[in-house]
Amino acid sequence: MRTILVTGGAGFIGSNFIKHLREKHPTYLILNVDVLTYAGNLENLSEFETDPLYEFHKIDIRNRDAMEALFLSYKIDEIVHFAAESHVDRSILEPELFLTTNVLGTQVLLDAALRHWKLAPDDKHSRAYREGVCFVHVSTDEVYGSLGETGFFTEETPLSPNSPYSASKASSDLLVRSYHETYGLPVKTTRCSNNYGPYQFPEKLIPLMIHNCMTNQPLPVYGDGGHVRDWLHVRDHCEAIDLVRENGRFGEVYNIGGHNEKTNLELVRTIIQAFGLSEDQIRFVSDRPGHDRRYAIDPTKMRMELGWSPRYRFEEGIEETIEWYKTHPEWVESIVSGSYRSYYESMYSSL
Ligand code: NAD
Ligand code: DAU
Repeated sequence: MRTILVTGGAGFIGSNFIKHLREKHPTYLILNVDVLTYAGNLENLSEFETDPLYEFHKIDIRNRDAMEALFLSYKIDEIVHFAAESHVDRSILEPELFLTTNVLGTQVLLDAALRHWKLAPDDKHSRAYREGVCFVHVSTDEVYGSLGETGFFTEETPLSPNSPYSASKASSDLLVRSYHETYGLPVKTTRCSNNYGPYQFPEKLIPLMIHNCMTNQPLPVYGDGGHVRDWLHVRDHCEAIDLVRENGRFGEVYNIGGHNEKTNLELVRTIIQAFGLSEDQIRFVSDRPGHDRRYAIDPTKMRMELGWSPRYRFEEGIEETIEWYKTHPEWVESIVSGSYRSYYESMYSSL
């Protein structure tokens, strides 16, 4: 039986990934390690409460002793590492938290994997292949910084992060790379564009706009609204990560994106129209400091090497996402009220 450690599995992408894993690989034992920050919500995974091949462990990835104990208790074959502080605006207010979680937390995991997989620098590829162990580091296109009006991020684009969040992710990417080069740890790194879909915390642009449309509140657009993001449905991202995990090459970086560039204003207008509301709800507010102007991914390597391309057309993906939020008002309400924080205590305190 393969045992996969998913970090940050109670967050937006991590929880979608666990659902994907269970569907595609019903025999895997899935260990979900998450400390449940404000962004972690176990209600996302309520269907797994009785699954004998799923376990939740409330652990801070920065806690070396706790991670060591976990590695001693299980024979972990693979790690898919999502756990991170992920919101750019928060990183501007609290950079240190982003460094400790995203950089030092990643190092704790790398060290644990290295110790328990007992790899030596000289068996860089062969032994890792033989034993089937693998560390997938989930990173972001934000490490590349900002594009001008044209061009795309390729895997060779130099790293040029502009926010404490993206600087912390770029630092973790470099650390991951160094553990491959120096110690022979079998790593693979993914860098994806902006995700959207169910279970995204309503601090991020799309769920925030949907929530504000549903509750008749103003729609805050930073600066002139001309900033461009390249949107990908979260399930397309999860499928891509799983392909990299299974078939990607060690030591490689894979850019993930679907050529779906939109200005923030275009996107907000699409959501407004879906609710039949007026553009008068838009409020242009002060710009985010260091705000990257444009992201756009070149996903050629994913397509050519791994045969991946997104399944979702944006028009259907955004419609489905809006529908999901409309039909799950209790999910957003539990976040707004804070009641989602007590779910863990009610489910696990007696264990
Ligand atoms: P999220 O904020 O929704 O979830 C992060 C999860 O990590 C939460 O469940 C949180 O509790 C957990 N976590 C945070 N600190 C932890 C710690 N110290 N120990 C254990 N768990 C901890 O984030 P997301 O949007 O799901 O992003 C997941 C990953 O994907 C991140 O690494 C992010 O950089 C990357 N990524 C995100 C996007 C996007 O558009 N959201 C795009 C590309 C890459
Ligand atoms: O590109 C991948 C990244 O996408 C991930 O690495 C990050 O974890 C994820 O948060 C996301 O970062 P962004 O900063 O692009 O996402 P966010 O949803 O915060 O903002 C999207 C755009 O919308 C950005 O240009 C800022 C703008 N914005 C955002 C908010 C929250 C607004 O105009 N108004 C808002 O209220």
